[in-house]
Amino acid sequence: MHYINLRDLEVSRIGLGAMGMSHGYTGSGTDDAESIRTVHRALELGVTLIDTAEIYGPYTNEELLGQALKGRRDQVVLATKFGLVSHSGEGAWNLDSTPANIRAAVEGSLKRLGTDHIDLYYQHRVDKNTPIEETAGAVAELIQEGKVRAFGLSEAGPDTIRRAHAVQPVTAVQSEYSLFTRGIEERVLPVLRELNIGLVPFSPLGRGVLTGTVRSTDAFAEDDFRRGNPRFTGENFQRNLALADEVKGLADEVGATPAQVALAWLLAQGDFIAPIPGTKRVSRVEENTAADAVTLTAEQLARLSSLPPAAGDTHTEAQARMLER
Ligand SMILES: NC(=O)c1ccc[n+]([C@@H]2O[C@H](COP(=O)([O-])OP(=O)(O)OC[C@H]3O[C@@H](n4cnc5c(N)ncnc54)[C@H](OP(=O)(O)O)[C@@H]3O)[C@@H](O)[C@H]2O)c1
Repeated sequence: MHYINLRDLEVSRIGLGAMGMSHGYTGSGTDDAESIRTVHRALELGVTLIDTAEIYGPYTNEELLGQALKGRRDQVVLATKFGLVSHSGEGAWNLDSTPANIRAAVEGSLKRLGTDHIDLYYQHRVDKNTPIEETAGAVAELIQEGKVRAFGLSEAGPDTIRRAHAVQPVTAVQSEYSLFTRGIEERVLPVLRELNIGLVPFSPLGRGVLTGTVRSTDAFAEDDFRRGNPRFTGENFQRNLALADEVKGLADEVGATPAQVALAWLLAQGDFIAPIPGTKRVSRVEENTAADAVTLTAEQLARLSSLPPAAGDTHTEAQARMLER
């Protein structure tokens, strides 16, 4: 495993997204023992960056990680997120990045994760009702107190990133980035390069489709969020399957799997990039982590880069309203 710096935070350049172990996908929360084995296998393979959030569950994903990391906390760069649970009464899926809410959130996350510090603490979504300077200031205080090591933002636009960074240096921005979703290339990536901020691409496997293993949505559970997602319906879905076939074709040439090719393409975009593929299965964490050893030629990278992005919005309308675009 190679390691890179997100600003001054060293992480494995392939991380592990833990969300699907508890939340969002078919099978989430049904086999905690396999999820814990997956975390342990990731650590054995040299993965250090592990990603969760208080909203995943809510809370159950942090609890699961707390269990998985007992006795192993020192091996991990543990990342979690605040801002999608309002602790003043409104509850889950309410934007709240006020300093008071962050103070309440951090105590809950520390307790559930079974630790006295969070290595990378992200604002999950920009809260338009709270100036980002106040949010950054609150995280700066947590850093001074030793409860947090580094500050991150998720799905923030260039202006927010600059304003936050002026108050408390931003270590990493976590945004969706993959062969399917390239929206950050034009305006966000240049700012990250300029300010020496790391990038943590989420959903790097196009929520499973880029792996070539999702061919139909029929077997998705009722609460699988992809059921209502524009990329997984009708004509869009058929076009996205055709794109996944292109990736599969190239993977066959390389002698790698499509998931590995999708990750290798991301890694080739810069040495400040550490994707966090999500899985709850040992076999897949082994496959995804092995992408560290897959090198694509300039011609192969160019072919992948010339593919069109996925058809359909990556979010439902309600979710898209929470993004800074
Ligand atoms: N900041 C944000 O707003 C935000 C939003 C979404 C996600 N995230 C973070 O990013 C992480 C990754 O994103 P994601 O989980 O949404 O999407 P993803 O990594 O693109 O895809 C995950 C899906 O692909 C499947 N999968 C993984 N590896 C596979 C392989 N080698 N072959 C076949 N299928 C495979 C997983 O199923 P199995 O689990 O069954 O293997 C799961 O259904 C999350 O865990 C979370 O930590 C952050």
